[in-house]
Amino acid sequence: MGPIKAQASYKKEVPTETWLEWKKEKKARKAKKREKLLSELDKQKEAASEISTEIEPTSQEESKGRSWTLSIALPGNILDNAQTPELRSALAGQIARAAAIFNVDEIVVFNEHGSLDKDKDNNSGLDEDLPPSCLQLSRILQYLECPQYLRKYFFPIHQDLRHAGLLNPLDAPNHYRRDDKAKFREGYVTEKVKKSAHSMVDVGLQRPIPVDTQLTPGLRVTVEIEEHPSGDMKKLQGRVVPPSTPVKQEGTYWGYSVRCAPSLGAVFTQCPYDEGYDLLVGTSERGDPVPKCLPSFKHILVTFGGLRGLELGLESDESLKVDDPSMLFDFYLNTCPGQGSRTIRTEEALLVTLAALQPAINSANF
Ligand SMILES: C[S@@+](CC[C@H](N)C(=O)[O-])C[C@H]1O[C@@H](n2cnc3c(N)ncnc32)[C@H](O)[C@@H]1O
Repeated sequence: MGPIKAQASYKKEVPTETWLEWKKEKKARKAKKREKLLSELDKQKEAASEISTEIEPTSQEESKGRSWTLSIALPGNILDNAQTPELRSALAGQIARAAAIFNVDEIVVFNEHGSLDKDKDNNSGLDEDLPPSCLQLSRILQYLECPQYLRKYFFPIHQDLRHAGLLNPLDAPNHYRRDDKAKFREGYVTEKVKKSAHSMVDVGLQRPIPVDTQLTPGLRVTVEIEEHPSGDMKKLQGRVVPPSTPVKQEGTYWGYSVRCAPSLGAVFTQCPYDEGYDLLVGTSERGDPVPKCLPSFKHILVTFGGLRGLELGLESDESLKVDDPSMLFDFYLNTCPGQGSRTIRTEEALLVTLAALQPAINSANF
């Protein structure tokens, strides 16, 4: 009760003019305070926007990573249509370049004359099950994808690679030169170092570097380079990571893997991803127009036919019980409507299709 009393007595004691003056002053003080608060609020807002623009690049950096994959499948038999060994190699080189340009993660080379049922009876899993054209295409694709400093380990002299040295390089981001500074590098596990818990890996620098674990010599690995705090290049170390890490973390294209499939059916059934491909695209001049958007996916597979289209792969594979190739896919697309040439060759269709699909592919997962 005290304070109320005191207030009442104060009112009584203050003369009216002084009271009005005091009220005016109070109003002015309040207005000043309000102004101050508003300007503080403005300053806070400015600071907050500065902070958010400072934060933005980090969140953009995080979103740079890519969690989905792009696979393509094509019949290796198309090499048989090339007239000379040089042209066979050049054709393989074109396919490799197209794959790198469009960030393809997996190339499946299938035998369009193969049957999955036949393979079940006689499936040795060995390369002999595949025709020479499929083997040569796979070998050249792998050779071109391999960083130059590692080729001496993985590609002994082979007839299939006779002209591969003349092919245009992929110039992929994982093909580092000796002096390039890089967070990740591809490497080769060298011979065991006696009494050491760490393997040495040749990552294309002056000397092999130790990694965090012991591995079987001869393996190809992806290494995250850990710089020494002193900056001493001789003290570099590495940590072995899955090859998908540079793509997932930084969105850095890390080349493609190559898989051979004994038939068209095996392209789908032998998928290396646990979840399988969740978006299947087939290509043909008899397909539908390319849609503006695609449903979101984790693993997309785009399949191409050879000289006789995907029909040949389907006819040859007894395990595929449909009459029309379009039935195998979620989308069956004509990616070059109104084509001026009677036929688009497979290697040309690769470029046309991947360019036509790129916007829909990129927007599907954002
Ligand atoms: C030489 S073409 C095959 C043409 C063959 N006459 C056919 O019936 O399909 C080789 C492959 O290129 C791709 N292709 C050709 N034209 C295409 C188009 N307009 N749209 C999408 N893919 C095409 C398909 O994958 C096709 O199987």
